[in-house]
Amino acid sequence: MALNQSGLNDMEKKLAEYKCDTNEAVCLKLVRFPEDIEDDSTTFHPEYSHQTFGDDEVAFGYKGLQIQLYYTAGNLSTLFKVKYSSKVTEKFDCVEADDIEAKIREIIPAGFTCNVDDFNSFLEKDANFKPFGTLLHAYTVHNEEAGELTYQIYKADMTCPGFQEYHERLQTFLMWLIETASFIDADDDHWDFFLVFEKYNKDGETLYATVGYMTVYNYYVYPDKTRPRVSQMIVLPPFQGEGHGAQLLEAVHRFYCSLPKVQDITAEDPSENYVKLRDYVLTKLCQSLPSFASEKLLLGFSDDMVKEARDKLKINKKHARRVYEILRLRATDMSNEDQARDYRLEVKKRLFGPYRKNQRELEKMKKCLRPEELVSHMGQMDTQVQHEELEKSYQEAVGDYRRIIERLASQA
Ligand SMILES: CC(C)(COP(=O)(O)OP(=O)(O)OC[C@H]1O[C@@H](n2cnc3c(N)ncnc32)[C@H](O)[C@@H]1OP(=O)(O)O)[C@@H](O)C(=O)NCCC(=O)NCCS
Repeated sequence: MALNQSGLNDMEKKLAEYKCDTNEAVCLKLVRFPEDIEDDSTTFHPEYSHQTFGDDEVAFGYKGLQIQLYYTAGNLSTLFKVKYSSKVTEKFDCVEADDIEAKIREIIPAGFTCNVDDFNSFLEKDANFKPFGTLLHAYTVHNEEAGELTYQIYKADMTCPGFQEYHERLQTFLMWLIETASFIDADDDHWDFFLVFEKYNKDGETLYATVGYMTVYNYYVYPDKTRPRVSQMIVLPPFQGEGHGAQLLEAVHRFYCSLPKVQDITAEDPSENYVKLRDYVLTKLCQSLPSFASEKLLLGFSDDMVKEARDKLKINKKHARRVYEILRLRATDMSNEDQARDYRLEVKKRLFGPYRKNQRELEKMKKCLRPEELVSHMGQMDTQVQHEELEKSYQEAVGDYRRIIERLASQA
């Protein structure tokens, strides 16, 4: 028995060496020049890989596993290679290694290559790659090493020749960057696509590199309006934190604002990062509206603000309220006790909404629950806990708001 146990442990230990963290093993790359292929500094890794490899984000059966998914910078033509230093075999180890290729093939579309020479010829063809659709907006970003770089935002749809295949390659990044991503039914013509490209120079020619994109679904609203809903947005990791997300969201917002049939702009199940970005962009847009002038902010959230944000910028009431809290914080002298208290109460009043609902539910329960059942609910609804949670939410909100105010100031 002891021998069996220790034999089992040895086996377990040995097999554990054949487990790889797939967030590390998946190596992504956007290739502009042939030398990028061997340059480890241009590799980036997924945030998530559970949708492809299961919740533990582990691939079994390999030592030193590397799953290379390299894309040409513009057209995203793909090189897919699996490398490892050793692999379990059914014959010697009596276990089977995960079928990496099958898992990756489920997400990458046909047309990829496993051969570096073929990939290099894809790379040469990238010189002919041009952005899809119509140009909406162009901007420049100053880069320490490269100087002034130019970016362009395009609006495309499935009628653009070649776009469908390109989009199939582009959306593979969703699986690695968004926790609960799914591929969309791109045949539905209610989708709009917005794409960001960087213009760069290669051998004296101007080429385009893919930076990020957003998908928006146009919902119909009775009788004659639409409500565009942002579905997915990514800025590819090498470009994150440079302001492209904000540029993209603002360009998309301005585009829909110009369409009379649009009622307002919403988002599907927005992530925390997206909400922060949206708060920044909407605040930037609202700060020049007369109803959001400093002296009006200190008087409270008004119907005028709701109306002006809706009519001029297609912003709904909930989002306008957040913008108001951010701009009011900027207009508030927090060293003035009265102003600071008024501000705190104003934000906490909104945050308190869900807690008040809990309180009402507790009152109702008190009437119909047995004492022992009531005790178990009391824990969740304890007022002291609620008070602490409220304070925490308040501090978090104000922290986020301050960062947005700093960002607005740095852009001014
Ligand atoms: C969320 C996401 C779209 C943001 O795109 P982004 O291009 O990185 O956004 P920005 O650069 O405009 O802003 C991101 C941060 O960089 C900072 N930043 C922007 N430009 C900067 C600059 N020049 N220097 C320093 N910091 C800068 C911003 O202040 C912001 O900071 P914050 O997060 O503290 O508010 C991107 O990170 C992403 O694709 N994430 C993975 C997918 C995802 O979560 N999508 C959203 C839900 S679908």
